[in-house]
Amino acid sequence: MCGIIGYLGNNEASPILLESLRRLEYRGYDSAGITTIHRGKLQTRKAAGRLVNLSDLLVRDPIRGAIGIGHTRWATHGKATVNNAHPHSSNNVSVVHNGIIENHREIKKHLILKGYSFGSETDTEVIPVLCQKFLDQGCSYKGSVHKTVDMLKGQFAICFLFEKNDDLIFLARRGSPLVIGHGASTMYVASDALALAGLTKEITYLEDGDTAAVSRNKATIYSKDHQETKRPKSIVSINAIDLHKRGFKHFMLKEIHEQPKVLAKAIENVSADNWLASTSASSLPFKELEGINLLGCGTAAYACAVASYWFENLAKLPGRAEIASEFKYRNAMIKPNDLSIFVSQSGETADTLAALRYVIDQQGHNLSLLNNLISTMAKEGTHSLPIHADLEISVASTKAFTCQLIVLLGLALAIGKIRNKLEQHEYNEFQEVISHIPALTNIVLGLSDEVRKIAQFISEFPNALFIGRGLMYPTALEGALKLKEISYIHSEGMAAGELKHGPISLIEKSFPTIVLAPSDHLFEKTKSNMVEIQSRNGPIILLSDADGVEDISGEVDFSLTLPKVHSLVAPIIYSIPLQLLAYHTGVIKGLDVDNPRHLAKSVTVE
Ligand code: M6R
Repeated sequence: MCGIIGYLGNNEASPILLESLRRLEYRGYDSAGITTIHRGKLQTRKAAGRLVNLSDLLVRDPIRGAIGIGHTRWATHGKATVNNAHPHSSNNVSVVHNGIIENHREIKKHLILKGYSFGSETDTEVIPVLCQKFLDQGCSYKGSVHKTVDMLKGQFAICFLFEKNDDLIFLARRGSPLVIGHGASTMYVASDALALAGLTKEITYLEDGDTAAVSRNKATIYSKDHQETKRPKSIVSINAIDLHKRGFKHFMLKEIHEQPKVLAKAIENVSADNWLASTSASSLPFKELEGINLLGCGTAAYACAVASYWFENLAKLPGRAEIASEFKYRNAMIKPNDLSIFVSQSGETADTLAALRYVIDQQGHNLSLLNNLISTMAKEGTHSLPIHADLEISVASTKAFTCQLIVLLGLALAIGKIRNKLEQHEYNEFQEVISHIPALTNIVLGLSDEVRKIAQFISEFPNALFIGRGLMYPTALEGALKLKEISYIHSEGMAAGELKHGPISLIEKSFPTIVLAPSDHLFEKTKSNMVEIQSRNGPIILLSDADGVEDISGEVDFSLTLPKVHSLVAPIIYSIPLQLLAYHTGVIKGLDVDNPRHLAKSVTVE
């Protein structure tokens, strides 16, 4: 989603800003821009589309200056045009902004009445214009920024640059992350510490409500009430982002193939007998728990849905999986003995963060499972655990999903054991099952060419259905999400048993169904649903093991034979061909699978 970068130093700012924006590229954006100050003048260059358009523009029409701010925008208010791209400026102020200004209409009306004018469709533009009004009234830089943020409703991270002052970037943070990076007579500002990889390791995280005046030699931070305050510097070990595809055509394919390795690492971390006791979550009252809320968005929400089955079966705890964006708005009840588990690859997803804050406000027990342990959720949550997926660049979540599943499964088993719902021998048997996952994953990755043939078939239809029962139901939901986001084929996932309650009316020759049916206790029932589809001429692609495929023996359009696995871990194994299916279908359709249209890697607005 939107990304912010700022630089104050002794070198030319524009190449540094551009390079840092490249590090934020993977988050998803549709326009970009930078502003610098040279000889006391603000100079801005902006371009719609990819960053290369901005770098081409800067070659044709360079800007100078050793201070600057840059932004990648993911359109919310107004189309992805040059005009709507950030930075937005008034006479003397230039601004980049992440988040949403909810009261922008009222502010705009007020400013127009005062004689100020606007040139974009964005909510952001009210910020520099409002700040300009306060400067025009004679307020200082600090006073103008503070008066401006006091009038804003919504959620934001903002950088202000002032004409004639080439040693000041003012920052404001409410709801969206913002960090300061410290160098020698140099300061950096970013919305994501990862953007500073390779530039500095010394980071100050602004807290919610903070503002800061950053110059080359110092950063003065003010708390919510605008009183000067101190925030600690942390030494953060941010590995330089690996932006190489290492021989793969796309990051998505590379990340799908990284699964045996990262899953092995995740398994190693959750397989020791008392692994939970050595984590920060050890102080949670597992024995007294009465229920688990599982919250996330998109793919993470489907990981939660899978885990709800595990918590009920292994830890004998009611597991309620819910879409994070709905949780706080229905005033969900948090009981004192509930544990709310938040699942997020980025740790920055605004909807999940809002649900976490809601639980914290109610003093509920909370635990976040994250891939980014220097994220806002890691900072704000009471406990967090890593999922060990390493950096995921492609917008489609693949290895993060399966690693989330491993940690959730490890957690369900550990809590089951702590609560005496699992005997030691049962625990050991389950761990044995889990230990085979990396090898099984490798076997499934070897089926990629077969999956490509199925993708060729699927790519010719405008719609697709994914069905499954039990743990294959949330797996079907994830398969459908993956296909729709990468191939733009309209796809829906549903419980196989639901088909006859309405959706079956869609079935016809041109509406294929992907059936997830391992040969387990639910196989016969799912088989009946398959027969119902066939009777209505619906094409079927069956994903099963050798027994299941043999049982159907050639009655389907395609079948993919997966290894026979314990039903507990089937969601992990069956999601891999679904990732490959989405990938190959997108590639066959000639789409940009790493940057699907309209999507962002990290969704930082509600
Ligand atoms: O960073 P998060 O795990 O919180 O992100 C949640 C969703 O936005 C994310 O899983 C999204 O659905 C992916 N594009 C799915 O591939």
